[in-house]
Amino acid sequence: MSARHAIVVGSGLAGLSAASQLLSHRVPVILLERAAKPGGNSIKASSGINGAPTSYQPVAEPLDAFYLDTVRSAGLAMKTLTAHREQLIDTLTEHSASAIHWLVQDKGVDLSKVAQLGGHSYARTHRGKGQAPPGFAIVSALLKNLKENPLLELRTSCSVTKVLQSSQRVTGVEYECEDGQKKELHGPVIFASGGFGGDAHGLLAQYRPDLNGYPSTNDPRPGTQPILTAAGAKLIDMDQVQVHPTGFVDLASPDTPLKFLAAEVLRGEGGILLIDGERFVNELDTREHVTNAITSRPATSDSPKQWTVQVVLDEATYNAAKSHVDFYIFKGLMKKTTIAELGPNAQETIERYANAVNETLKDPFGRTSFANWALKDPKLDSVVYVGIVTPVVHFTMGGVLINQKAEVLQDDQKHIEGLWGAGEVTGGVHGGNRLGGSSLLECVVFGRIAGNQVAEFLKETS
Ligand code: FAD
Ligand code: SIN
Repeated sequence: MSARHAIVVGSGLAGLSAASQLLSHRVPVILLERAAKPGGNSIKASSGINGAPTSYQPVAEPLDAFYLDTVRSAGLAMKTLTAHREQLIDTLTEHSASAIHWLVQDKGVDLSKVAQLGGHSYARTHRGKGQAPPGFAIVSALLKNLKENPLLELRTSCSVTKVLQSSQRVTGVEYECEDGQKKELHGPVIFASGGFGGDAHGLLAQYRPDLNGYPSTNDPRPGTQPILTAAGAKLIDMDQVQVHPTGFVDLASPDTPLKFLAAEVLRGEGGILLIDGERFVNELDTREHVTNAITSRPATSDSPKQWTVQVVLDEATYNAAKSHVDFYIFKGLMKKTTIAELGPNAQETIERYANAVNETLKDPFGRTSFANWALKDPKLDSVVYVGIVTPVVHFTMGGVLINQKAEVLQDDQKHIEGLWGAGEVTGGVHGGNRLGGSSLLECVVFGRIAGNQVAEFLKETS
């Protein structure tokens, strides 16, 4: 491999997008991945990737709607570093349509089905029509494409342990593979090593001790931000951790701390949430809001910390999310049943929801998008699909601060030469609450920007 290669750390969607972009400039890439298999958390993504405007959206949206939704969702965090955050959000949303275009046109991924997730004012979360979940479809397409290119070298089971520097400039990384030998690689570095939602006893305990005992959708793994702070990187929003309202409680092993995610798309396609047979929230409000509406009530278990919430779909909603629900039924996480089995009050509750859908009554929780729900006259023997869910640690909004060029910053202005960052390892773009579908988007947008920047850097310094 040529000495003019680039180093990418992490083979989730951010790393794969960066590597793809570098290869499009004919820059050789060494991709280092700590796990035995590539794909990171990205391969598990279940609801889709945001983009607007696209031809797949059922309703055309005003140009700034996605930007404004993201700012609103970021909340109070926008009060600090306001201009910087606005620039990052602008970059994210401005490049969202081209991110979808790139995946569809250049990489052959089907993203033709669109749903409206929580906190979004328009349907803009894209997934495919087939059986493959969006994370798997996107990651597999990029990996296949990359592996066909002789300029890519993927080294799995190799963990980066240190960023190498000379006169404050990043010159490469130290890493260790299965033989336990420390080795060095030299070249510009893109860090795409993901979040710390799985680092329960490390960074999560340090920054959010109050979340101790919550289950998670993230496999246990240490966060990598300390490797970057050791090289001078500035951290932002490390205490901003997203608790997703709906992780499945598997009744066969209800106490396992690692939960399978009940994709937000279940609610996006029309599904509702019930506690003791009653709705209690606009299911399409932001995750932060929906989670708070659950966790403000007494937990039903302390270890792990869990609540008992039902996610309920009617037949039409099931059909819209069929590939998801069939898989959850196969895994024993959902079942087909009748309203009678949901418990007391459920029939009346569903009747009120049906009235809101039919526009005979305003929804008391302010929900305005009901997507595919079609059950108009719920009876005790009406068919529904149900699973038990509970809030789960899902995503870390905080991380190393980057700028619009994906350069890792040491303070608000100055970047660290030779070091770029993309994806969940970075912070600032989502503020206090990430919108569903915007993580895959940030991986593609900032991963590609980082790839372009490093290609440019190599051209200038050769
Ligand atoms: P990852 O995909 O996590 O990849 C990081 C990689 O870096 C990992 O493979 C890791 O092993 C490797 N790594 C870490 N440290 C090192 C090291 N020191 N050396 C070498 N390698 C290292 N987001 C959406 O937008 N839409 C969705 O539908 C969606 N669904 C989700 C469903 C689930 C169950 C989960 C858990 C998350 C979901 N998300 C979704 C969030 C999203 O998938 C992730 O935030 C995003 O994929 C992160 O991508 P990434 O490339 O930054 O990190
Ligand atoms: C989900 O499918 O609910 C996860 C989507 C996301 O995290 O963006």
